[in-house]
Amino acid sequence: MEVALSPLDEPALARLLDAAVAGADPLEVMPPVIGAPGWTPERRTAFVEFHRARCLNPATAVERTWVVDVDGEAVGAARLQPRGDAVEAGIWLSRASRGRGIGSRVTALLLAEARSTGAARFLASTTTGNHGARALLASAGAVLTTEGDEVTAELALG
Ligand SMILES: CC(C)(COP(=O)(O)OP(=O)(O)OC[C@H]1O[C@@H](n2cnc3c(N)ncnc32)[C@H](O)[C@@H]1OP(=O)(O)O)[C@@H](O)C(=O)NCCC(=O)NCCS
Repeated sequence: MEVALSPLDEPALARLLDAAVAGADPLEVMPPVIGAPGWTPERRTAFVEFHRARCLNPATAVERTWVVDVDGEAVGAARLQPRGDAVEAGIWLSRASRGRGIGSRVTALLLAEARSTGAARFLASTTTGNHGARALLASAGAVLTTEGDEVTAELALG
């Protein structure tokens, strides 16, 4: 199994939308959009616009995003957003790709990328109910802090 990060561009964004529609819940991969549930045309447009604004449009970009490719097929996304001396990371994978070690491989690739930018700390946040994300971050060596329902993970980059 080859796990690779492909920098987001328009063709990669089209592949990412297909992966999201095929295997993820909208709420797992984008901010909430009002309306009927599921991957409505409005939500598909919002997904694409979300990534254009956050990553592809130089005037508004705040983060770098990659498509997670497993053996050349898009199965999810990973991101790094600078925050002061730290970078904040995020990952989602399609349902069929979870629990197979892909998240751990992606985290290792993100950590290497974060180190190469010179960031001092790697941050991520999740919720107490997200056992997969918590296990993933703890196993990467991050220190997890819980406040109410929010879990913050921090790892010093040496
Ligand atoms: C969270 C997520 C990225 C984890 O990736 P993954 O590929 O499923 O995780 P891995 O298979 O690499 O497992 C990593 C570790 O977490 C553990 N783990 C994975 N899923 C788990 C689950 N549902 N419950 C408990 N532990 C779990 C694994 O046993 C492994 O532990 P180990 O390193 O001690 O052996 C993935 O499940 C996902 O995309 N979830 C939906 C979106 C999401 O919640 N993103 C994170 C938001 S912060």
